[in-house]
Amino acid sequence: MNGSSSSPQLEKVNPEAEDFLPLLGTDHIELYCGNAKQSAYYYIAAWGFKPLAYCGLETGVRDRVSYVVQQEKITLVLTSPLIPDGPINDHINRHGDGVKSIALWVDNASKSWEETTSRGAVSVMAPATREDKDGSVVLSGIETYGDTVHTFVERKNYQGVFLPGYGPWNPSQPIKPLGLRYVDHMVGNVGWGEMNTWTDFYARVMGFAQLISFDDKDISTEFTALMSKVMSNGNGRIKFPINEPAEGRKKSQIEEYIDFYQGPGVQHIALATSNIIETVTELRNRGIEFLQVPATYYDTVLDRVGHIDEDLDPLRELGILIDRDDEGYLLQIFTKPVVDRPTMFFEIIQRKGAKSFGKGNFKALFEAIEREQETRGTL
Ligand code: FE2
Repeated sequence: MNGSSSSPQLEKVNPEAEDFLPLLGTDHIELYCGNAKQSAYYYIAAWGFKPLAYCGLETGVRDRVSYVVQQEKITLVLTSPLIPDGPINDHINRHGDGVKSIALWVDNASKSWEETTSRGAVSVMAPATREDKDGSVVLSGIETYGDTVHTFVERKNYQGVFLPGYGPWNPSQPIKPLGLRYVDHMVGNVGWGEMNTWTDFYARVMGFAQLISFDDKDISTEFTALMSKVMSNGNGRIKFPINEPAEGRKKSQIEEYIDFYQGPGVQHIALATSNIIETVTELRNRGIEFLQVPATYYDTVLDRVGHIDEDLDPLRELGILIDRDDEGYLLQIFTKPVVDRPTMFFEIIQRKGAKSFGKGNFKALFEAIEREQETRGTL
């Protein structure tokens, strides 16, 4: 896990944020899915994750199965129900495959629960200790937007492979990691007029502050629009942009998401790499599909962003986008939705100093998304 037993030194990078929890990082992301076994295979074979842990009938769990896969600091938990009724089925029935829990690594899950619920968070799990032969963890949880939750994970007294109840999982499948390193940010889509409700929630309940960057204004194309604000915790390890749809001549991509997800939820997970050209080359070789901006994007991009270390040719061939802010530049690319409904997707990002989120690319990108929406009849 990303959890070594001692807590790292926490540097304050977002001075406005009040780090009363504090959050040490993203512990894991749990997705509820229709067929966890096949989803796990997808993340292993296509995305280079390695099998880490498993719970299900063989470990004494009767109502669900979970496969845990990991690549450096990114841990995904893929969960499917083994019974016909219950909350996992309800979640999948309503939302399709999607993120249930953004689990946050903390030093003290009891205190995190007390601090957040006393500030108005709705509890989904009071602090509970779980133990096995490898030690104990404390888990607690609160609601966030839609049916999504935050689970607080305190693992400083645990040496096991993932969490109590899970056994190691080592299929003989050969694994070739892709250089994905950590969760850079996770974006939530919320309904009309709800962006400030949720940015206020992260400020009031979690002590986050808005990350002021040049991404903040309305973002629109000729047809569709959205609004976005980025909330971050004090040490900057957790960044949650929150989007809401805005009025445009046609249906916003956020509205399409809300329609198909049947409410707010996680729109995309941005994974950081140290070499986006290698990572994306390999992902494409393994069949991952990305949004494609027009070739003309590359005719003028260097006029906008100035000098970059990389050759433009491989970036153009792969469709990787470039943006710059006051502190440096970033390289990024977005997949098409990775689930059946036009909802969740991934971003691959390589930061070279920039701390923003690629606003300069949004217009080109949204036009690419609109072309996809047109083929779905949802524009
Ligand atoms: Fe992003």
